[in-house]
Amino acid sequence: MERISSGIEGLDEIIEGGYPRGRTLLILGTSGSGKTILGISFIQQACSHGRKSMIIATEELPGDILIQSASVGKPVEEYYKNGMLLIDKVYEERSIYAKDLKDLGIEYIDKLQTNILGLLDKIPAETECVLIDNLGVFTLNMSPNEFRGQFDSFILGLTQRNLTAVIVMDVSSGNHTENIASYSVYGVIRAAIKDNPFTGKRERQIEILKMRNTKISLDPIRFDISSKGIELMKK
Ligand SMILES: Nc1ncnc2c1ncn2[C@@H]1O[C@H](COP(=O)(O)OP(=O)(O)OP(=O)(O)O)[C@@H](O)[C@H]1O
Ligand SMILES: [Mg+2]
Repeated sequence: MERISSGIEGLDEIIEGGYPRGRTLLILGTSGSGKTILGISFIQQACSHGRKSMIIATEELPGDILIQSASVGKPVEEYYKNGMLLIDKVYEERSIYAKDLKDLGIEYIDKLQTNILGLLDKIPAETECVLIDNLGVFTLNMSPNEFRGQFDSFILGLTQRNLTAVIVMDVSSGNHTENIASYSVYGVIRAAIKDNPFTGKRERQIEILKMRNTKISLDPIRFDISSKGIELMKK
């Protein structure tokens, strides 16, 4: 199976060369655990290899993504400017839409936030790699059943188009949807900040919970975030 680099030094070797090409990976994690930086690392690497990419950002402005990516040594501004990278403005659209409705005296803002399948139409035909960060906002008013129906079709759509996709989801949305997303995707990585009982210190770690067609170790991998990005620590 062909692989696409995760953009994180040392991670590709652990997962037989990278993320499985044309499949979907789910990144789960608590707030501030490093989900976005994991996703940006993948997209930056893809762009640097000439793969047309897209970021669908539901919680951040494009400008903030450009700043964050540069601060962790994975700058994407050049690709954003030359068209290799598209950043969708779902976040702005959501906010403007909510304001318009409010001005009209309508409080009901569910529609735009529950159309997961509609995201497929936003992705241009020649795109190879996609990051959706954070899909959790689409699940706020959804039952686990509604979510499953849409999510399965969404993953199928991504796969049929041979897109290599990274979907970020916060832990609370994962719990709210009974972690259904984990079953449909090809791989799951969970990021967390945990206490190390031996040192008494808090530390970052990722766990590869599943990666179909790939031999994985279930041991957590400790990591740091610096101006050079995500750096995995030796055991
Ligand atoms: N340049 C940097 N150097 C060192 N650490 C950084 C740098 N930039 C960000 N970080 C660390 O990365 C953390 C955030 O990572 P990231 O945004 O990927 O997390 P997240 O899981 O996406 O969070 P959220 O829940 O807000 O979406 C910050 O809290 C900060 O500690
Ligand atoms: Mg984030």
